[in-house]
Amino acid sequence: MSPLSRLAALPLRYGAYALSLLGLAVSLAGLALLSPWWGWGVLAFGLLAALGTHDLLQRRHTVSRNYPILAHLRYNLESFGPEVRQYFIQNDTDEVPFSREQRRLIYQRAKGISDKRPFGSLHHMSHTGYEWMNPSLAPAHIEPGELRITVGAERARPYSASVFNISAMSFGALSANAISALNDGAREGGFYHDTGEGAISPYHRRGGDLVWEIGSGYFGCRDEAGRFDPERFRQAARQDAVKMIEIKLSQGAKPGHGGILPGAKVTAEIASTRGVPPGRDVISPAAHSAFTTPNEMIDFIVRLRDLAGGKPVGIKLAIGHPWEWFAIVKAMLERGEHPDFVVVDGGEGGTGAAPLEFINHLGMPLTEALLLVHNTLVGAGLRDRVRLAAAGKLTNAFDIARTMALGADWCNAARGFMFALGCIQARSCHTDRCPSGVATQDTLRGSRLDVPTKAQRVTSFHGNTVAALAEMLGAAGLRHSCELGPEHVLHRVSRHEVKSFAELHDHLTPGELLAGGADRHPVFRDFWESASADSFAPPESVIRLRYSKLY
Ligand SMILES: Cc1cc2nc3c(=O)[nH]c(=O)nc-3n(C[C@H](O)[C@H](O)[C@H](O)COP(=O)(O)O)c2cc1C
Repeated sequence: MSPLSRLAALPLRYGAYALSLLGLAVSLAGLALLSPWWGWGVLAFGLLAALGTHDLLQRRHTVSRNYPILAHLRYNLESFGPEVRQYFIQNDTDEVPFSREQRRLIYQRAKGISDKRPFGSLHHMSHTGYEWMNPSLAPAHIEPGELRITVGAERARPYSASVFNISAMSFGALSANAISALNDGAREGGFYHDTGEGAISPYHRRGGDLVWEIGSGYFGCRDEAGRFDPERFRQAARQDAVKMIEIKLSQGAKPGHGGILPGAKVTAEIASTRGVPPGRDVISPAAHSAFTTPNEMIDFIVRLRDLAGGKPVGIKLAIGHPWEWFAIVKAMLERGEHPDFVVVDGGEGGTGAAPLEFINHLGMPLTEALLLVHNTLVGAGLRDRVRLAAAGKLTNAFDIARTMALGADWCNAARGFMFALGCIQARSCHTDRCPSGVATQDTLRGSRLDVPTKAQRVTSFHGNTVAALAEMLGAAGLRHSCELGPEHVLHRVSRHEVKSFAELHDHLTPGELLAGGADRHPVFRDFWESASADSFAPPESVIRLRYSKLY
């Protein structure tokens, strides 16, 4: 069989490879017999033929072996499919996790250009799940600057927080310029910047108020073995910029996962910020080593507060097993001490990188989590002393108002502020190739982010969002966000039925759990009484269930 007839016998899917071999042969002949210009053909077909040969010989990709050369078209098309959908196909309210409508509003508020819309709503108001706030015929006026909340009023160094702040994101997850712009923006706008668990970097020290987050890696306050170091903590916590301390128990997008920063990313700067050796993997364990029981956790909070000179100390958590949260509240009651604030992170929250199953299916979404946390604190008679914050896809005034109606005192945003910095939702935070220079440690990419411009946008996004909130609350006849309650927001349950949050969700009365009223809702009836301040372990009933499956 001649080589030509052998090529002809190959299935059609080898056509591109066959043509490239043919082209190479013809070009070689042309180069030898006709003109040097055929050299270009040799180069082009030679490269294609080499690619096809590689595809055939490699063993990792079956599709490439079956479709030499052509398979690359598919891989390439697939790789920019999201961009094609984003630019040409999806409509304004489609895209996830943040629709174009949501992002455009942030960009406009960040740039300080008109955020008004013509003609009318794009939302289907008769669809189940549609929500709105009821307006008042007696509107009020609110100065946006008055929308602040005092945290730790009974402490030596209480803090007056804005109702909207920058949620935890570390230097390491975000670039140096991104952190600098966030900090400058927070300073100018008078709101707080949460450091994330990666410690206080030089880029956090530009005058913005800091909430210093302490994760299980105790970065910035750890000893050689990675355990909590009280003296290092004391020194850092007493810096003037640090206004509050937040112990991170878990994060909505990856609760119970912990984390690892690969050695390659542990630059000298990150290493010195975090207090770890450069070039070596940095582990954030899934659990804390400074405490193992709820009571010990409350003791740790008290210890941190003392070391910090009386600054408010809180916890951040994603809600999982209800008995564990109940155990924390019982520890507050038993110890007679409490965190100054609790930040509830919804399962819909963001991350630099996490397993898909964690992102999609682990952890309670914000609405349910917040209702549980708020109601437990109310029922335990602690809600007036423990402030409540929330995070989870909150980017506009209605998101914030709705969350406050469910029980939050203030809201935080991570990705909202990333958009203000210029993030385009490329979703490549984990690749170190963030196109907008926000979520990368590639110094060239990061340095393209202009700090003064983006800082201005951060300030402006915050200011315009809080102004929109003030206007919305005023339109509902309220004088402060703390007047917002579950009766103000309505939810379409079906085409023909609407319920306010007050009707839709059970609400405990102050002290109800202490007065033996734990049977209002099954979650309290099943788990409140049995929860123990001494342990995060499940109650007997759950353990019995486990045995029934195992034996
Ligand atoms: C890039 C990135 C890094 C994050 N890093 C941290 C972190 O260090 N500590 C933490 O508690 N949460 C971290 N988070 C979670 C956010 O603080 C926030 O709780 C969550 O994304 C929900 O807010 P959002 O929906 O406004 O993004 C991170 C989120 C993102 C997107």
